[in-house]
Amino acid sequence: MKRIVILISGRGSNMQAIAQACAQERWPAQIVAVVANIPQAAGLAWAQQQGLTTLALDHRQYANRADFDAALLEACQAYQPDFIVLAGFMRVLGESFVRHFQGRLINIHPSLLPAFPGLHTHRRALEAGVKWAGATVHFVTPELDHGPIIAQAVVPVMAEDTEASLAARVLEVEHPMLVQCVRWMVQNRIYLEGNQVVHIDREPQYLLHGFAGYARANPGAHHAS
Ligand code: GRF
Repeated sequence: MKRIVILISGRGSNMQAIAQACAQERWPAQIVAVVANIPQAAGLAWAQQQGLTTLALDHRQYANRADFDAALLEACQAYQPDFIVLAGFMRVLGESFVRHFQGRLINIHPSLLPAFPGLHTHRRALEAGVKWAGATVHFVTPELDHGPIIAQAVVPVMAEDTEASLAARVLEVEHPMLVQCVRWMVQNRIYLEGNQVVHIDREPQYLLHGFAGYARANPGAHHAS
């Protein structure tokens, strides 16, 4: 049984997608804890209702970033995770935390990295006028949103898009992509070797799957250009 800890900050829809796939597909895995840095995070309430172990570690209760990181590290270690998923976790993690779980820590970011790391991703993508957006799952390294890429999914940007409409379109491909990546982790199909992601079967072709899935679900959609 793989032991998974999921870190969230808000709604937790990516966490829900993982929890549902884990239960429905009977993964040889267990979500041993859902941890949030915001006690009011809606995802925590959902996780509690599902009977999952939850923990709120309010980062505002700590004097500085290092203290919060140390507390988070201790809490996560106590759950003895095989790996940790950052699923909409909006705090930058310190180097000691990242190094401790290196190769066992993955993140989803709603842009096609290395474009638009950090906050306000969708706003910046619209301002830049990009025609394609998407999401990236990557192993976490100390540099924010820069770790080795496991998978990417793309969606078109429409002329009439707002931040909200683009975020919603990207979120649709986030869920199946993140679930696929966690499935791969559970099955030991991917691992980190130095700076390279090794996929034991073949190179993951998630980008194509993501777009094909989007195109099937939205047959009338045209590219904005
Ligand atoms: C997702 O778009 C995630 O990529 C980003 O924040 C959003 C979180 O959504 N970092 P949710 O909490 O998983 O619903």
